[in-house]
Parts: sequence; structure tokens; C-alpha cells
Amino acid sequence: MNEELIERRRRLLGPNFSTFYKNPVHIVRGKGVWLWDASGKKYLDCYNNVPHVGHCHPEVVNAIAEQAKILNTHTRYLHEGILDYLDRLLSKHHKTIETAIMVCSGSEANDIALRMAEAKTGHRGVIVTDSTYHGNTSAVSQLGYGRNMGPVGDHIRYIKAPDNFRDNETMDISEAKFFKQNVVEAIDSLKEAGHGVSALLICPFFANEGFPNLEHGFLDEAISNIRNEGAIVIADEVQPGFGRIGTNWWGYQKIGIEPEIVTMGKPMANGHPVACVATSTEIMGSFRNNYGYFNTFGGNPVSCAAASATLEVVENEKLIENALAVGQYALKGLEELKKEFPQIKQVRGSGLFFGAEMRGENNEPLTQYVSQIAEKMRDKRILLGVLGKNRNTLKIRPPMVFSKNNVDHLLEHLRDTMKEAECGL
Ligand SMILES: Cc1ncc(COP(=O)(O)O)c(C=O)c1O
Repeated sequence: MNEELIERRRRLLGPNFSTFYKNPVHIVRGKGVWLWDASGKKYLDCYNNVPHVGHCHPEVVNAIAEQAKILNTHTRYLHEGILDYLDRLLSKHHKTIETAIMVCSGSEANDIALRMAEAKTGHRGVIVTDSTYHGNTSAVSQLGYGRNMGPVGDHIRYIKAPDNFRDNETMDISEAKFFKQNVVEAIDSLKEAGHGVSALLICPFFANEGFPNLEHGFLDEAISNIRNEGAIVIADEVQPGFGRIGTNWWGYQKIGIEPEIVTMGKPMANGHPVACVATSTEIMGSFRNNYGYFNTFGGNPVSCAAASATLEVVENEKLIENALAVGQYALKGLEELKKEFPQIKQVRGSGLFFGAEMRGENNEPLTQYVSQIAEKMRDKRILLGVLGKNRNTLKIRPPMVFSKNNVDHLLEHLRDTMKEAECGL
């Protein structure tokens, strides 16, 4: 059955279009933190952040259905839906985040953010880390270093991502100083090449980079160098945003910065394709004066109903508080496992975005081993992922309704899996 689907997929969607897991899962239904496959088997979803408030949350489903019965059209007519939503959304940010453009994907949001930065500064140079992903438009895909996503312009500089296991030669300076030093070198190089600097674009939780432990204020020095150049900071909240990290609504608040532009997506409408780029009135003015921009589907009444319902559920069900409590419980559980399994080198995370980095006796990244663990967990019907520069960190990022019981279930199977896989070390 799966072979037939895999073959149809290859024929209709093209070659080299990867699936998760060597034995891909054929999911047909979801509810809360659970997914069911076509044969009725139940899986614990420890991976998906898009169904933020749980798969098929009835309030979001209802909001979509009710609005779809009344009207769905684009934003060139007047409609309160988008305005009411943005009033609520922008109130969750600092006061210079006052206006927004609604789009359908994080890629589009970041694409506009780059153009906003260029319109504001008059420069093109962009600084990003060397192990990230910010999307798939032709401008934004260039920011994904080494991902085989097409040609890269000379106006981009990749700097080393923060890493709790840096090379020995650079360990004598702090993570923050090392990052700042790399930002300064990138600034100099962009100026020398004649591009100037428009923006530092980062995920403030450094999610794709493997979410290293970083102290509040980590970015301060780097950012003051960016601002001295008249350049701006873009925070990509596509992964940590909407309370996932448990301590704050946004990753940038946890690390203590106030970016000029914020992009949001994935969890924003619980699976309905909604994303957004938000900024100051001044930056929006520069952008609008330089570019005509319209997005047929972005901000339509049904999308805004889905996004509003999602925000409401986060608040009503106290899901940020839940993320903090359940996340702390999970970290404790992983720390216990670490005592049993020395290959767990570091347990880290915040709220419902956590995991464990695995390394061998000589500190070498256990890339193959971690991938094997994720595959074996899939066979035990626990879905999780792998990430980081060396892809040796387990990525656990479940819907925000994840409970302590779900953590127990996850860790029990992780312990069994690690025992079974020890011979593969
Ligand atoms: C940090 C980050 N930014 C942007 C994107 C792109 O979002 P989308 O797939 O909605 O275009 C992703 C997608 O994985 C992401 O992880």
C-alpha cells in the first residue's frame, strides 16, 4: 500500500522530494497531540509545531467553517477581520511593531522583510548564520547555506551559528563575543564589496541551528554593531513564536532584543496557511513607497478567522503556561536519561521546544546514531526529528497541548529505543 503511494508521489510530485523517515508514515487523521495512520495505528506527535493548539482544534475548525460560509475574498475590500486580528497580534509585541502585511508563508514574510530592510537602509547586504533556513523564494533560499537551493548572491554573508560545542581554538572567548566578532567581520566584508549592510536576519532561538543555550543579552553587542551601521535586525519567529518557548510570546523577548522587523508563520493559524511580517510605520512607509505589493490570499477573512481563533485558544487554554510547565518536566526527565546514557552530551530547550545533543567519547557528533533513534522511535509510533549543524540533536517540538503524561510516554519509549540502539553506537 505504502509502496504504491510512494510511487504515485514520485510520479506526480517529482523525484528527490523527501519524506520524513525511511518508512514514511501515511497519516489520515489528527486530534490534539495524536495522529492516526491509514491502518488505524495511533502516533504521538512530538514534532509538529504548525498545529500549535493541537491537531484539528474544534474552535479553529469552527472559526474557519463559519467564516467560509459567509465570505472569503481578498484584502482590497474593506473588512474588519484583518484589522481586529492585527490589533490583537501587534499588541503582543513592543511598541515599534505597529503595522503588518499578511501573507501565506514564512518564506513570503522573510522575502518582504529583506525588501523592507533594503528600502529602509538603501543597502543590500544581509548577514545570517551558516546553519539556518529562512524559506524558499529565490531571495530567501540564498540564506540557507549549503542547502543546494540555487545560486547565492555576493550580498550575503554567513557567520558561524552559536554553538555550545565550538572548536577548541575559539573556546577562550565567550559565545557572545565570538558571535559579535563574526558579525563585525561580515559587516566589514559587505562594506568592502560595496554592498553595505541592510540587515542581520536571525531566528532569536536559533532553532534550526540546534537551539544552543544562550544567555539573555547574548546578541546585544552584535546588534549594537549592526545598528551603528544604520542596518536593522529582523527576527524570524516562524519557529519559536506564539509562546512555544514557554517564557515569552516571542523568542526575541527571551533573548532580550527589540527587532525592527518580525516575521511570523507556521503556528499562526494552526495549519491554515497564514504568515505575517510586522514592523514600524516608518519602515512600512519606506517599503510601500518603493514596492507595490499585493498578496491575493494573504489576510483573507477565513485566514484571519483561523488566526484569531488560534490566538484565542493560546490565551484561553493558558498554553504558554502549559508549555513552560511541561517543558521543564521534560527537561528534568531528559536529564535523568542523561545519567543512564553518556552519549547524551547536553539536554536543552525552552518550553515545548527541547531535545538532546548526542556525542561520542571523543566529543564527535553522533549524527548516524541520532538519525537511527528518530527512525526507531517512528517504528514505536512516536514522531520526532533531528536538527542542528551536525544533525546530532533530537528535535522535540510538539503541539502546545502536550501534557506531562505525553512526556512520560515519550521518555519511556526513548529509554527503550536508546537501550536497543546502543550496539549501533
Ligand atoms: C526559521 C524558518 N523561517 C522560515 C521558514 C519558511 O516558512 P514556510 O515554509 O512557511 O515558507 C521556515 C520553514 O521551515 C523556518 O524554519
